[in-house]
Amino acid sequence: MIYNSFNNAGLVKVLTFLQTHNTEYLSGQDLSDVLHISRVAVWKHIKKIQELGYVVESKQKLGYKLVSNSELLLPWEVTAELKTKTIGQRAFYLDSTDSTQNWALKMAEDSENDGAVIIAGKQTGGKGRSGRRWVSPKGGIWMSVILRPKFDISVTTLFPIASSLALSYAIERIFKETPELKWPNDVTIKGKKVAGMLVYASLESNRIENLVLGIGINFDVDVKQVEKSLKNTPNFYGVATLRDLNQKIRPVQLVRQFLLELEKIYALLNGQKTKEIISEWTKRSSTIGKEVEISTLNGKARGMALRIDEDGALVISNKKGNSRIVAGDIVHLSK
Ligand code: BTN
Repeated sequence: MIYNSFNNAGLVKVLTFLQTHNTEYLSGQDLSDVLHISRVAVWKHIKKIQELGYVVESKQKLGYKLVSNSELLLPWEVTAELKTKTIGQRAFYLDSTDSTQNWALKMAEDSENDGAVIIAGKQTGGKGRSGRRWVSPKGGIWMSVILRPKFDISVTTLFPIASSLALSYAIERIFKETPELKWPNDVTIKGKKVAGMLVYASLESNRIENLVLGIGINFDVDVKQVEKSLKNTPNFYGVATLRDLNQKIRPVQLVRQFLLELEKIYALLNGQKTKEIISEWTKRSSTIGKEVEISTLNGKARGMALRIDEDGALVISNKKGNSRIVAGDIVHLSK
């Protein structure tokens, strides 16, 4: 079942009324009168609202009262108080799916879905970089964003790097903790991976038709469980969960903030203003200045990580001189 705000208008109407009147009991008749829907429809919506994880107290003679909100990243929760112009204003939620990337890829063909976000409660076939699987149990934030950028094709490789910077801004804002960025797209806390980005680009001639940005955030996952499933993965360096930073933050707060930061960074990229992105990424980078080893399609390269170029390529230096690494898996050799 895929949820969006458009095909759940009745439910959202009842829910919003309960949310804005959560200090009192509201009778089925009152809700029916105020919202102009039948009592049966009110009852059906309340049942569904409860199934979605909202706690609604129901008392005979008094009626219904909303006690707590759902922790699911439901579309109407994401869009409520979302301060973006476009990104995330169309939101979709699935309880479980193979991969949000698959949904997003199909939906990206429709230009109406520019800026749409697809979120899943869990993924059964989550995709990571370099063809790896991405362990996506309940409790994490697994989402894909569809974009039709104006920027040049050469900026595509900087885009996931810029997106990881957007997520680090959002984490900083919401959790008051500055994560580090590991080249190319990892977001880390105390040296462990808290999030990763994956981009699929659909190109036509020399133009980007659309981009699908996949973001995986270990928001509230069982670290030991995830690490157990990943321990044989090459270059695995451990997992961290944001829940350890703060017990109270709701996932929807981070999602909204991330979408806002992403929209700002996306505007910079569309305006070809990449300098700020590169310098801010560099400030937060745990890679620059370290001795690194990178596995690329052409074998392994070692050297000192000097900087990233305009297109996000990592420049390393060794006895042979400087070289640019466009893509690969990195291991930090020095502390
Ligand atoms: C990485 O390997 O670091 C990138 C991981 C990206 C995972 C996200 S979760 C949401 C989206 N759907 C997927 O199947 N993968 C991306």
